[in-house]
Amino acid sequence: MLSLDNAFNADDVKEFVGRVRRFLKHDPLMGAIALTAEPKIDGLSLSLRYEKGELISAATRGDGAVGEDVTQNARTISDIPMRLKSDNIPDVVEVRGEVYMRHDDFERLNEEMVAAGKPTYVNPRNTAAGSLRQLDAKITAKRPLKFFAYAWGEMSYIPCKSQFEMVQLFGQWGFSINPLMGCFESVEALIAHYEKIQTERPQLSYDIDGVVYKVDALELQTRLGFVSRAPRWAIAHKFPAELAVTILNDIEIQVGRTGSLTPVAKLQPVTVGGVVVSNATLHNEDYIKGIGNNDELLREGRDLRIGDTVTIYRAGDVIPKVMDVDLSKRPADSVVFEFPKTCPACGSPAVREKNPNTGKLDSARRCTGGVICPAQAIERLKHFVSRNAFDIDGFGEKQAESFYKLGIVKTPADIFNLHEYNKQAEVKLQDRDGWGEQSVRKLFEAIEQRRNIALHRFIYGLGIRFIGESNAKILARVYGSFEVFKMAMISAHDREGEAWQDLVNIDGIGEVAAHGLVNFFNDTNQKPMLDGLENALTIENAEVVESSSPVANKTVVFTGSLEKMTRDEAKAMAERLGAKVSGSVSKKTDLLVAGPGAGSKLKKAQDLGIDTVDEQGWFDLIEKL
Ligand code: IVH
Repeated sequence: MLSLDNAFNADDVKEFVGRVRRFLKHDPLMGAIALTAEPKIDGLSLSLRYEKGELISAATRGDGAVGEDVTQNARTISDIPMRLKSDNIPDVVEVRGEVYMRHDDFERLNEEMVAAGKPTYVNPRNTAAGSLRQLDAKITAKRPLKFFAYAWGEMSYIPCKSQFEMVQLFGQWGFSINPLMGCFESVEALIAHYEKIQTERPQLSYDIDGVVYKVDALELQTRLGFVSRAPRWAIAHKFPAELAVTILNDIEIQVGRTGSLTPVAKLQPVTVGGVVVSNATLHNEDYIKGIGNNDELLREGRDLRIGDTVTIYRAGDVIPKVMDVDLSKRPADSVVFEFPKTCPACGSPAVREKNPNTGKLDSARRCTGGVICPAQAIERLKHFVSRNAFDIDGFGEKQAESFYKLGIVKTPADIFNLHEYNKQAEVKLQDRDGWGEQSVRKLFEAIEQRRNIALHRFIYGLGIRFIGESNAKILARVYGSFEVFKMAMISAHDREGEAWQDLVNIDGIGEVAAHGLVNFFNDTNQKPMLDGLENALTIENAEVVESSSPVANKTVVFTGSLEKMTRDEAKAMAERLGAKVSGSVSKKTDLLVAGPGAGSKLKKAQDLGIDTVDEQGWFDLIEKL
């Protein structure tokens, strides 16, 4: 399942529509591009699979690729048809939408809780999520859940030409669809609809956190494709965040996985948008000072001090932030906050590096302790076992921290040695507080299960700076195996060479991420950790996408001018078909697509005897699919 990019104002929306036009080479003279606009429901997404019209499975979003099976629970939701109401439906239909709870239902549920002397629920969204993921479907059945259908996944054929028609069709099949969906032909009309929805928001019986715009024509959606997990053809225009005023009781410094010192505001607990907040991020030391990285003033230069009265805000799911301070309420004895110059965990100097590209100071102060810093080591372990990385049952953040402090797991590789280690240990794990024979046996089993690990999980688990889950997936898909990937990253140290070029040419991997990767794999301090893991694990090769495609696993270079598609579109198309797109011709190039005006790359390809086609030849080739 997918995620959406965000827009926060009308300019962002204009920019989005402009991007769509440029990508499609769509001139305003060619007419308007229609877009739909509909509320962004603040619930949780659910994917429903129907075969021959029968509901056969329901899955939550999970990590985007693998979700939780909630079929039995979904069957209890009255907005979800068990059988689609039509004779004329594709054999396989995957309908996606949002599960949510209405305000009145939420309040009624809480009244029942109070009456039963039980603790009440915090907000409709979390309650809906908890209800859907109940182990016992009988409990879900008692919770008043609702569902809006707004998107789809696999379909054996697509019965319509537009987003709008598809959603209307879902309505005919028996789903609830949102009545506030409309289709518009200009940015102004989209914004007008956004404002209409925003005005109606307080009267709506469910929570929404913005408006989603989608390019209406499905043909254009296909051409636009995706950037990592987000479609290029859709964007979420978020509503402004909710605010609250409270007291900044303290500033705590947390040390992250990569050593950054992050100040966290400890707040007098306050409710913002239905959630009690007692922590908020303060980003970095400049943010506290009120002077940004380019000497620009933040909050007109007002600094933040312990004891201050502050405004905090929370937008959707994101961590709450401190926005402003009320100087009229500042205690007379307050003092300027002194940001630590040493790491609170290991005492090593904490410095602000100069960015070699921009010459500017990095906004984060970083602990220089590296592998000796216990806080970094614990954070790395937590990340390693996190849900989208190794996801070891019974080994979460708590265990990572406690095992580290006990000295039994210091590095990720130690996890896979824990069983052996425990056999020889003086104090066995099963004799420690909170553990028993059975839980320890289960833990070792869960660890064994992860000895085989998918390449993208492994890459993500390494906790490399700037490499999140979607980058890890892209890298796994492009390089296929860990050996190939590692060698490429080591070679990419030469910023003039091919390996570096190939890396920065990957759609979705920016220069910053590329530097992060190269620095990591060329850092000798990381070698023991990597060697340890490679010895302990079997890293599975990534499945190659679209293996039936004639360009799967081929390295393709585009040169010259293209007429039917933009360069970005060509690249995205090739990658969707499993090809690797490179910017330069070399021995490794399999195919050159040369448009008019092609020069040195074409000559080089001819010299090397590389297959060359023109733009039409490219379409002929991939049409054979
Ligand atoms: S479309 C095409 N439409 O927002 C991409 N998403 O931030 C698929 N959401 O995971 C999403 N209301 O859970 C779409 N009307 C709507 C939505 C919506 C809520 C959620 C959805 C998605 C998340 C992305």
